[in-house]
Amino acid sequence: MKSPIPDYLDEVLEDLRSDTGGATAQYIPELAAADPDRLAAAITTTSGATYTAGDVGTEFSIQSISKPFAYAAALMDRGLEKVLSSVGVEPSGEAFNELSLEGGTHRPKNPMINAGAITTHSLLVGRGAAQASRVEHVLDLFSRLAGRTLRVDEEVCASELAEADRNLAIAHMLRTYGVLEDDPHDVVEGYTRQCSILVGVRDLSMMSATLATGGVQPVTGERVMTPEVARQVMAVMAAAGMYDAAGDWLTRVGIPAKSGVAGGMVGVLPDQVGIGTLSPRLDEHGNSRRGSEIFARLSRDMGMHLF
Ligand code: DON
Repeated sequence: MKSPIPDYLDEVLEDLRSDTGGATAQYIPELAAADPDRLAAAITTTSGATYTAGDVGTEFSIQSISKPFAYAAALMDRGLEKVLSSVGVEPSGEAFNELSLEGGTHRPKNPMINAGAITTHSLLVGRGAAQASRVEHVLDLFSRLAGRTLRVDEEVCASELAEADRNLAIAHMLRTYGVLEDDPHDVVEGYTRQCSILVGVRDLSMMSATLATGGVQPVTGERVMTPEVARQVMAVMAAAGMYDAAGDWLTRVGIPAKSGVAGGMVGVLPDQVGIGTLSPRLDEHGNSRRGSEIFARLSRDMGMHLF
């Protein structure tokens, strides 16, 4: 007999298959060409059981979902005080690719928007660190979070770098304010490589379940981060993970979450589960449309609301 969770997940996915609204990300050619019908979900409990449904074998680039995990890496590398001096923790209420700097300090408002994530990437390892060492560092951390060896999709990376004017402009602005201490081109290239790491929904549910446990990977048993770092990451995801839809999301769905333009999403319920979903059609905020709906259903049907 099948366990009730995968049956339920299959049902949710079947209900959503007829929703063909939204479109793949158009500003990165490699993502625009993705199969828009892909649909998948995975839930990993803090005790390490994983339930999946749909296109579980499909790999896609992690994109902005890398941001909370790279933030964790920067917190471990540089400490909370240094990271806070460069990147704030306030919701921006604006789109992910707005500059959204704070008035006095010129810090990006949070690490979930591009300005904050580019700055966060520049904090990895140490000042002036080589691009390759920063990329290796996040790749190693993400692999330990997922419980398997991950890799960068160089084609997605090249495709995005060819259209990276906006991120380069953001990075140059950050440099003029002294927020970015390293070369803007080098940092944007490293950040884009970070965004191009390939994952599947099972990886995403494992990565977020590691946040849910307070930093211990639930299958390998490795302590990947401290409880304090996990808490900081989950709190920032709750405040700013869904960009200009963050308040609506937290009240209506109540699961701290992060989306990516390739159509992935992660969500985390502390001490309970990590969730990963995939559906490449995006809504007007750049969040996965059917992915958001899977989360809304889990919140409603399974009582998975924080409050
Ligand atoms: O910086 C970018 O444009 C992408 N690499 C990531 C953006 C992203 O995933 C926004 N998320 N919804």
